[in-house]
Amino acid sequence: MNNNHFASILLDWYGLHKRDLPWRNTKDPYIIWLSEVILQQTRVAQGLPYFEKFLENFPKVEDLAKAPSEEVMRLWQGLGYYSRARNLHYCAKDIVNTYGGKFPNDYKSLLKLKGVGTYTAAAIASFAFDESVAVVDGNVFRVLARYFGVSTDIASSGGKREFEKIANEHISKKYPAEYNQAIMEFGSLQCTPNNPSCNDCPLNSSCFAYNNDLVSQLPVKINKVKVKERFFTYIYIVCGEYVVVKQREAGDIWQGLYDFPLEEGEKNVLQEIKELTLMHELKGFDPKVHFDSETRFKHILTHQRIFANFATFVIGESHLSKLLNWVEKNDYELVDFSRLESVGKPRLIVKFLNDEK
Ligand code: ADE
Repeated sequence: MNNNHFASILLDWYGLHKRDLPWRNTKDPYIIWLSEVILQQTRVAQGLPYFEKFLENFPKVEDLAKAPSEEVMRLWQGLGYYSRARNLHYCAKDIVNTYGGKFPNDYKSLLKLKGVGTYTAAAIASFAFDESVAVVDGNVFRVLARYFGVSTDIASSGGKREFEKIANEHISKKYPAEYNQAIMEFGSLQCTPNNPSCNDCPLNSSCFAYNNDLVSQLPVKINKVKVKERFFTYIYIVCGEYVVVKQREAGDIWQGLYDFPLEEGEKNVLQEIKELTLMHELKGFDPKVHFDSETRFKHILTHQRIFANFATFVIGESHLSKLLNWVEKNDYELVDFSRLESVGKPRLIVKFLNDEK
């Protein structure tokens, strides 16, 4: 087995099986960067409509740079990992202000951009500028671990370096862009996590895992992350056409998105409305309260599992100006329904509002 065998089989396979994806027909670093940031931790089918929406709204990096951050967050809504959207926007402004609107054209300089790690820098450097630097994402880990029989934990920092080294040893120097696309595509269509198509795989005769019956054991990933459970009770306060909202702050999930006043419990979501601390303050508004402890929403993030329920307070419009005072004093905001529709919200909130309609 030599280096070219692996790369040339992948390139042949790619020529036959590649999907026609819009970011593959361009050398424009802005379009490539946009697609890669959107596709991180996201499946192609989910990311594609977001990519199209972003490109339509912001055809050039200058358009994205000058967009209000609210618009960027709103277009990102539903994709999750919202720090990616904030970094995307920050980076666009940086490209315009520091780099005169032109992306740096090599791996090392690309790495200096905010939100651009080794994977994204390698993707842009190879796809846009044909630099011979290998991408390593989840698909690449899997293909390399199986084919070369590498059992190092892919979640360890040493593991990442080891896989980057192997990937860079086998990249095609002549066709680095196609090679990088090919190995990722191969991982996502042929050498899949479960039930890979080994029988008709063009690499099976020299694949270590296939020949040693280790396909289901590789790659090795030791998950050390502990998932934290959190229990939210949202207080949904409606007064005529208005709703009380809160923009989420730094230092917690969903920074910059809008949700509602919130009480977080230690061990469980709220069981009875009388346990609500805000109940006392809101009594003065003479609200109609609706609370159903059985209706719960569950939202799973990488490191957190959120359980939420909602208490609805409908307040008469005669209390509107008093409510406005209370809202301002507590750092909340009063918005009408059309504004609520347009601001970026966590998916959990969108689900709740859809159920309310
Ligand atoms: N996932 C991440 N980057 C990708 C790309 N360029 N093509 C297909 N899937 C991807």
